[in-house]
Amino acid sequence: MASNKTLLILPGDGIGPEVMSEVRRVMDWMDRRRAVSFGVTYGKVGGAAIDEAGTPLTDETMADAMSVDAVLLGAVGGPKWDSLPFEQKPERGLLRLRKEMDLFANLRPAICFDALVDASSLKPDLVAGLDILIVRELTGGIYFGEPRGVETLPDGQRRGFNTQNYTSGEIRRVAEVAFELARKRDNRLCSVEKANVMESGVLWREEVSALHGEQFVDVELSHMYADNCAMQLVRQPKQFDVIVTDNLFGDMLSDEAAMLTGSLGMLPSASLGGVDATGRRKALYEPVHGSAPDIAGQEMANPIATLLSFAMSLRYSFDLADDAELIETAVKNVLAGGLRTADIIQPGKAKVSTTVMGGSLVRELDKLAA
Ligand code: IPM
Ligand code: MG
Repeated sequence: MASNKTLLILPGDGIGPEVMSEVRRVMDWMDRRRAVSFGVTYGKVGGAAIDEAGTPLTDETMADAMSVDAVLLGAVGGPKWDSLPFEQKPERGLLRLRKEMDLFANLRPAICFDALVDASSLKPDLVAGLDILIVRELTGGIYFGEPRGVETLPDGQRRGFNTQNYTSGEIRRVAEVAFELARKRDNRLCSVEKANVMESGVLWREEVSALHGEQFVDVELSHMYADNCAMQLVRQPKQFDVIVTDNLFGDMLSDEAAMLTGSLGMLPSASLGGVDATGRRKALYEPVHGSAPDIAGQEMANPIATLLSFAMSLRYSFDLADDAELIETAVKNVLAGGLRTADIIQPGKAKVSTTVMGGSLVRELDKLAA
């Protein structure tokens, strides 16, 4: 029987394919043990697509992405494609997916797993129990703003320029997602911009405040400048619950927050579009880490971030919160049992390969579901 849950897997480059194989094992396990099956198709993105088709994302793959319930992506990029012209780089494939699927809300949780408290560069008491969620605007701002380019001036100098702009609608729709998520958590939202120097930041603050007054007075709202937020994240990260911010600040602050947890190889993300008339929303799930070309193909990669991204898809696209929780518990238990991939190895723990980690996760799922 054809599955009514469709998933497009785009393994991408570097460690993408190897971590995705481990996730596939968990999908097969769900099919066997939970009677949850997915109609899975595969495609290429990034350097893999450049090598095969001369472009980081073909129109066919783009169309496939538009037609499925969810896309699961590994990672893109690598030194092999670094010297290509800007428009042909692997990253453009990812940016095209985000833009054409209109995935404006990027959810990046930064969670400190108990077993990894000591792996953080911050003192353990600052990060123990850390659980914050960054909601990054993903289809607007300086990433896509026009005009942009590099021009030659009359005096022969060159001038590079990009444009930061946001409409009230773009601000409100991402803020709405953030307010709603805050309601399901600790009910606190911190909106981050640079209203002290940027007009788009002034508008951001005004629109978020207005929306708060109209629909979300029950949520505790605060505002913070982005530079202060960067500082507060290392000073006292647990002061935050949900942070909402623009595309560029969100890119930087989410890397910072991820590193606080000591577990970049563990963090998932979800990029969501608006809810359509049928109640469906387009969605793409990917680990926060990159393609790590330096360790690709050596059985060293950590499959957990991609697995947790798949778990996010169960929660946000497939209404399978119980199965998502099962996977998250399996991850916690395997870590508590002392297994570590190379990126999170600690003294006294057992260093295991990508596939051994994947196999252990499947065995843990077996135990949990018994
Ligand atoms: C991210 C990445 C991307 C971004 C790159 C790969 C284009 O850094 O997802 O955070 O800048 O958005
Ligand atoms: Mg980034």
